[in-house]
Amino acid sequence: MKIIMLGAPGAGKGTQAKMIAEKYSIPHISTGDIFRANIKNGTELGKKAKSYMDKGQLVPDELTLDLIMDRFKQDDCKNGYVLDGFPRTIPQAEALDTALKAKGEKVDFAIDVDVPDENIVKRMGGRRACVGCGATYHVVYSPTKVEGVCDKCGEELIVRDDDKPETVLNRLEVYHNQTQPLIDYYNEQGILKSVDGTVDMKDVFNAIVDILGA
Ligand code: AP5
Ligand code: ZN
Repeated sequence: MKIIMLGAPGAGKGTQAKMIAEKYSIPHISTGDIFRANIKNGTELGKKAKSYMDKGQLVPDELTLDLIMDRFKQDDCKNGYVLDGFPRTIPQAEALDTALKAKGEKVDFAIDVDVPDENIVKRMGGRRACVGCGATYHVVYSPTKVEGVCDKCGEELIVRDDDKPETVLNRLEVYHNQTQPLIDYYNEQGILKSVDGTVDMKDVFNAIVDILGA
């Protein structure tokens, strides 16, 4: 099964993608996570990506496409995947379709996690990410047992560099201009499904399972 998660920054794509990956035994592929891992490891790609990410801009398509096409070659992608944060522009979506078509494959579902902008700004301020394992928490909606410490690996939690309020507003604008057109793109293909992302995380997940099948 090949699934794309759509939605504004902070809509909960990553949260849901992790749960989907676990339930359906497919890898969770987040371009944002891959870029952040490269930044942490000081790679050339990381250096290039950071300059865009810190401003809330998109990393150029060429860099992103090279990275994702490389990831698809890994063995764990044989039975599908859940894509989180990719595609993010029409050219990225077209490149994905072309690559899949060449193998006689296609995307099965594009799931739009719908959350209005006003909720997004509130959510981002409370997000905390683990420096060790990348787990995501929220100070109000999914707090850790011990404040500032990851439940899963015990490492420290941080606020992401791009979660500062001014950067969040920029990311939202970039989302509306460059990523939201994908909703029409996948609707025209007949594979778009929308879920209400403002409800509790478990209820969002139940709505997604209803779409994907148990
Ligand atoms: P990326 O990492 O993809 O960031 P994003 O799309 O902005 O999405 P987020 O990770 O911020 O949010 P999310 O929707 O996953 O929400 P989450 O589950 O964490 O990209 C970062 C940057 O990398 C981009 O700006 C760009 O520069 C670059 N990039 C990445 N991919 C690219 C591409 N393809 N092309 C070009 N550039 C690219 O949830 C958010 C918070 O809310 C959490 O604290 C969570 O606990 C909480 N929460 C989740 N669900 C709920 C709920 N139902 N109720 C209450 N709280 C909830
Ligand atoms: Zn952790």
